[in-house]
Amino acid sequence: MSAPRFRIEWSSAGEELVVEEPTWDEVARVAPLLAAAYNDPHNRAMLTHDEDMTAADVVQSYTEMAEAGARQLLLYRDAVLAGDADFRSLEAGRAEFALLVAARSAQKRGLGTRFAIMAHAFGFSSLGLERSYVTMLAANLGSRRVFEKLGYTLDDSPQARRYTDDKDDLSMSVDRATFERTHAVALAEIRIRELAAIIR
Ligand SMILES: CC(C)(COP(=O)(O)OP(=O)(O)OC[C@H]1O[C@@H](n2cnc3c(N)ncnc32)[C@H](O)[C@@H]1OP(=O)(O)O)[C@@H](O)C(=O)NCCC(=O)NCCS
Repeated sequence: MSAPRFRIEWSSAGEELVVEEPTWDEVARVAPLLAAAYNDPHNRAMLTHDEDMTAADVVQSYTEMAEAGARQLLLYRDAVLAGDADFRSLEAGRAEFALLVAARSAQKRGLGTRFAIMAHAFGFSSLGLERSYVTMLAANLGSRRVFEKLGYTLDDSPQARRYTDDKDDLSMSVDRATFERTHAVALAEIRIRELAAIIR
């Protein structure tokens, strides 16, 4: 299937932030960097990955997720890869969101919040989402705080719990109106562009 891919741009705090749906060449190029980030012990624990991933595993994961309909995003700060994110399980205006700021040295500096705002600007407009869900380990205070800043609140509804892996995981959600109200200033600055079609 052929479909447009999207690029989201934001000049924020003196940095050029880009969130982009990658080509397959780009996925192959960044796969070793993402594998290293996924395998970092802290990131791996927070992402609940059991085993180390190779670059080939990353490409395979991107392929399987794309086949399942996920919209995967690479995150760039001043043209340098900073992490990845995705909306998955897209269905009836709902999706689950996931986010990684790759380098431990880049975490806790506001990047995750800003990239998440950009991704949600895209999800709630171009993807037509009405509500987005996240799940996380209860110990993942950084993730919880980022999503609270996005406008998410704890959500223990059956729909939200469907995305969890473990009964102790936290589940949260945000609706489009709450997100757009909370981030109106940023949304006025963020640009969403449609790029040439790729084959999915
Ligand atoms: C979770 C993650 C995406 C957050 O992104 P980030 O860039 O580190 O977060 P930010 O700098 O935007 O922080 C936002 C807020 O959370 C706080 N925060 C971030 N990490 C924290 C931590 N480990 N403990 C406590 N608070 C934390 C920040 O102080 C900030 O709060 P403030 O604005 O009130 O001062 C990132 O740390 C990451 O990728 N971690 C590893 C993978 C992961 O956990 N992914 C999410 C899985 S659900």
